[in-house]
Amino acid sequence: MIIGIPRESDPKETRVAATPKSVLQLIKMGYEVIVESGAGEKASFPDGEYAAAGASVVEKTDAWNAELVIKINAPLDDEIDLLKAGSTLISLIAAPRSPELLKKLASKSLTVLAMDSVPRISRAQSLDVVTSMANIGGYRAVIEAAHEFGSLFTGQVTAAGKVPPAKVFVSGAGVAGLAAIGTARALGAIVRATDIRVEAGEQVESMGAEFVHVDSADQQKSSDGYAKEASQDYAAAAARMYAEQAREVDIIITTALIPGRPAPRLITEEMVASMKPGSVIVDMAAANGGNVAGSRPDEIVVTDNGVKIIGYTDLPGRLPTQASQMFATNIVNLMKLVTPAKDGILTLDLDDVVQRGILVVHEGEVTWPPPAVSVSATPPPTAEVAAPIKKEKKKRDPRVTYVVMAICAAALLALFFISPGGLLGHFMVFMLSVVVGFYVIGNVSHSLHTPLMSVTNAISGIIIVGCLAGLQLIDQTTAITTGSNLAILILSVLGIFLASINVFGGFTVTQRMLQMFRKG
Ligand code: NAI
Repeated sequence: MIIGIPRESDPKETRVAATPKSVLQLIKMGYEVIVESGAGEKASFPDGEYAAAGASVVEKTDAWNAELVIKINAPLDDEIDLLKAGSTLISLIAAPRSPELLKKLASKSLTVLAMDSVPRISRAQSLDVVTSMANIGGYRAVIEAAHEFGSLFTGQVTAAGKVPPAKVFVSGAGVAGLAAIGTARALGAIVRATDIRVEAGEQVESMGAEFVHVDSADQQKSSDGYAKEASQDYAAAAARMYAEQAREVDIIITTALIPGRPAPRLITEEMVASMKPGSVIVDMAAANGGNVAGSRPDEIVVTDNGVKIIGYTDLPGRLPTQASQMFATNIVNLMKLVTPAKDGILTLDLDDVVQRGILVVHEGEVTWPPPAVSVSATPPPTAEVAAPIKKEKKKRDPRVTYVVMAICAAALLALFFISPGGLLGHFMVFMLSVVVGFYVIGNVSHSLHTPLMSVTNAISGIIIVGCLAGLQLIDQTTAITTGSNLAILILSVLGIFLASINVFGGFTVTQRMLQMFRKG
């Protein structure tokens, strides 16, 4: 089967549906690939690279005349005319908003797979273009905000004075919101975020941001990862919270979305007016009605009080190489799914919820909307588990503690008096090591404790050396089984054995951790 990759006709579109690498992968699946000349130009993929990967570089009409056409945006009317009757098209379609387009595509007996209709279930993540693009969009939203913001994101203490870190507030902690939180954190800002779904709080905090709760009982517990419209009580409480945040923060990034509905209006004109001059708002939902009053699609609006409202709708396209790579990888993953025999023949399995979900036109028949897919972001409800009864902790009499401490101190003192001369020095070194070790390890991030410990386990090698030295104390003139000789032997062998477990175990764990970061 021949796959055609046309050049995108929208002058603002910078992405391309296939990269030289993905072309190679498609060819390995048994397909022949033809690419329209200049298709990858804006994404930094010249024709020569496609040719080197094994594709033929062709004219526009040839690319559109292929049996399978893969592109980014839905085709325009004149492009639909170029499609071969009975062929297959894979692209973004925006099916819920495009009934007329679906009818036109059906009238040419086409089969159409909509990349923006991939059900959000874990199995389909590898081909979920909406998620890939929202991820890039969230990143780029922060970069755009940083570009328009007149100060540093990260706090600094310099000879020229102290710079406080920027305060960023993210509304909506879905894919784009979490990407924005991660990027703003990486740039050194103080980040806060909110979401109508309670379960988002944990994800926000895991990214190192503060989750701002809305003081309402109507927080949603979503079963499918998507929000529903807010209740009046929630909206009123949220408005108070947004008003407070708007006065405090420097940057606001809004990503709130309710599927199938216009974007919820979260930031009012009064809130924008209360922001500091120079503040920046990025309204990622500008194309969908906007979360922010006054935002305009594809424009930067500067308000009377000097707040910039960015309404770009092409954020992924502002990173054309990366966005094309991710889009192309999603396409390759889809093609793997529909080419099970790797024979270059697209074979649809309509019983598969993922393939059925993206099939919007099948052999000239509109098949959108697909049957509902049951998705769950939260574990299924289980029978109520009785809360464990907490045992009342008995308070110990403080006098007992003092007596125990006094006995320990006396025992320690007695030990010093009866112990050989060098012990006190060794003991002091040991205690100091404990204190130094406590502070050194305590200042290492928790996530690095395992690699740190696995390598430092090698320090146990000193125990092996000590045990070997101990073996020298064995009296050669008497039998090995006599009292002190036997004790030295048993303790030394035991010491060597346990320390070896520590040393080799540590290296094995280190090796396994390094393996996780190795490609292939
Ligand atoms: P998503 O569905 O993963 O996340 C949306 C989040 O908003 C959800 O977590 C939801 O719970 C939350 N939400 C809904 N109503 C809310 C409310 N009233 N208050 C607080 N949170 C609320 O969506 P995704 O993929 O992250 O996309 C976010 C937005 O970004 C969408 O509008 C999408 O169209 C847009 N987008 C824009 C791009 C651009 O270039 N401007 C690029 C990519 C995505």
